[in-house]
Amino acid sequence: MKEIPKHIAIIMDGNGRWAEQRNKMRAAGHRQGVESLRVVLEKADELGINHLTVYAFSTENWARPKAEIKALMLLLLEYIKKESKALHKKNVRITTIGDLTSFDDKIQKEISKAKELTEDNTGLNFNIALNYGGRDEIRRAVEKIVEQERGGNREGLTVTEKEIERHLDTRDLPDPDLLIRTSGEMRLSNYLLWQLAYTELVFTETLWPDFTGEDLEKAIEEYQNRDRRFGKL
Ligand code: FPP
Repeated sequence: MKEIPKHIAIIMDGNGRWAEQRNKMRAAGHRQGVESLRVVLEKADELGINHLTVYAFSTENWARPKAEIKALMLLLLEYIKKESKALHKKNVRITTIGDLTSFDDKIQKEISKAKELTEDNTGLNFNIALNYGGRDEIRRAVEKIVEQERGGNREGLTVTEKEIERHLDTRDLPDPDLLIRTSGEMRLSNYLLWQLAYTELVFTETLWPDFTGEDLEKAIEEYQNRDRRFGKL
């Protein structure tokens, strides 16, 4: 059997267009997107993927209309409240990356609860990127290095790659093997900038709300046909 990627990252793009095509509110697209997430999580679990990191809310998403942000926040709260117990039963461990301090207390509390509930689980690691931006993550990592390890003193400061890695939100995760972006956009949009250095990228025209378990399998097949050299020969 060909190697299954250990870590898959996904940019769940196209919710808005999916809704617009149906004359629905954009929030309806996000709601349908949650359904796709459910299906993909199940498939990833079944396939024995170790880590699944999904881009749920970026540092740039705050610039969207207030009503859409509100709808996304409600959906997130509802999702965490409703799904965490079911995921716990499936031995899924919920983690997050990103700066959660910008979210409402209620959301922060629910996320903490979900993480605590599932922290000892040994199955799939479901990692949600929330108020996440690759540049912001690197900036925060350097800030932590300066503050924690140098007592705030920048004099003679040299920061190594390893040192940055140890302070990133993803410090406990391997780099993704495969990145999937749906909806035909071919950009990284500030996602996992550090971690994607040698990741195989798979882009699909399918809008995220239409993405199925079979689409996930197809993307993995494409990954399995790639020749990974990591810059070597
Ligand atoms: C991109 O589509 C998607 C988002 C900005 C949000 C993704 C969120 C979800 C799938 C649901 C919420 C997640 C959780 C974990 C509850 P877009 O709105 O940019 O689509 P468009 O490019 O077609 O406008």
